[in-house]
Amino acid sequence: MLQEIEKRAREIEKEWESNAKEISDLKGLEELRVRFLGRKGLLTQLFPLLKELPPEEKATAGRLLNSLREKIQGEIERLKAELTEREREERLRAEAYDFTLPGMWRPLGKLHPLTQVRLEIERIFMEMGFEVASGPEVETDYYNFEALNIPEDHPARDEWDSFYISDGVLLRTHTSPVQIRVMKSRKPPVRIICPGRCYRRDTPDATHFPVFHQVELLWVEKGLTMAHLKWVIEEFVRQFFGPGYEMRFSADFFPFTEPSAQVHIRRKGGPWLEIMGAGMVDPAVFEEVGYDPEEVTGFAFGLGIERMAMLKYGIDDIRLFFQNDLRFLKQF
Ligand code: DAH
Repeated sequence: MLQEIEKRAREIEKEWESNAKEISDLKGLEELRVRFLGRKGLLTQLFPLLKELPPEEKATAGRLLNSLREKIQGEIERLKAELTEREREERLRAEAYDFTLPGMWRPLGKLHPLTQVRLEIERIFMEMGFEVASGPEVETDYYNFEALNIPEDHPARDEWDSFYISDGVLLRTHTSPVQIRVMKSRKPPVRIICPGRCYRRDTPDATHFPVFHQVELLWVEKGLTMAHLKWVIEEFVRQFFGPGYEMRFSADFFPFTEPSAQVHIRRKGGPWLEIMGAGMVDPAVFEEVGYDPEEVTGFAFGLGIERMAMLKYGIDDIRLFFQNDLRFLKQF
């Protein structure tokens, strides 16, 4: 019986050794532990046999089985530690992220230079107490022309040749119709600016484009004079351009202002560029909107945003704004 047990023990030990060599992961190791040391394990099954041995042999066989169990347990511990470490390393390797790789590149968007300039213009006038108003880009003949004292046969219409949608409906040629819409909807005093897109049947060249932007300004109150108009424009130009620019006023004609002026700006020594038409609101316009020209006066101007941007940044061709060439846009 003792020999029987010893033989079995040797077999189990051999089997353990060959199995243990094959083990490559924790799951396999656990299966092996159950197979040898589990409740019905190969080695466990030998222990009950001890009871049947005479005391001396029992002690010998007991020592044998216990030392084999300890050996297997010890190796299981060692393998477990090894495999745990190996699996940890493999996981780390699989999850490893190379922080020296270049990042995912996503182009950063920014505001179009015309938008930047418009926002800057709005900021300056809002600080002076003007409110931002708006009106439709598809306008009626009445608001775009009639109410601004430009009757149907007036030669001034030639300057504002438009794109017509249908009879009497057109893409607005300037932001001035917003003056009429605002004055018709409220009583004086009025102090607004209106930035917006305008359209004209202009042939594109370095300073003209069929789509462009204006900022309209209108201030109506008791006692306003041309001096106030000049101050507002001068203050605006000073804030927008800073030092190094010159400004000049000259006489002009607009049916909706009397007197009318145009304003030119240049970088010192550079060419003059007209940036706006301006003037004192014509009494005929006040009458049209129901204001009393004996009681209030006012002034207005229409400023070209593209031209402001061209002067500020030294851009020599208006068409660049509309070509969406990133090499151009990235510079602002
Ligand atoms: N609307 C004019 C244009 O587009 C510019 C203009 C001139 C606007 C005089 C005004 C003004 O408000 O008073 O040519």
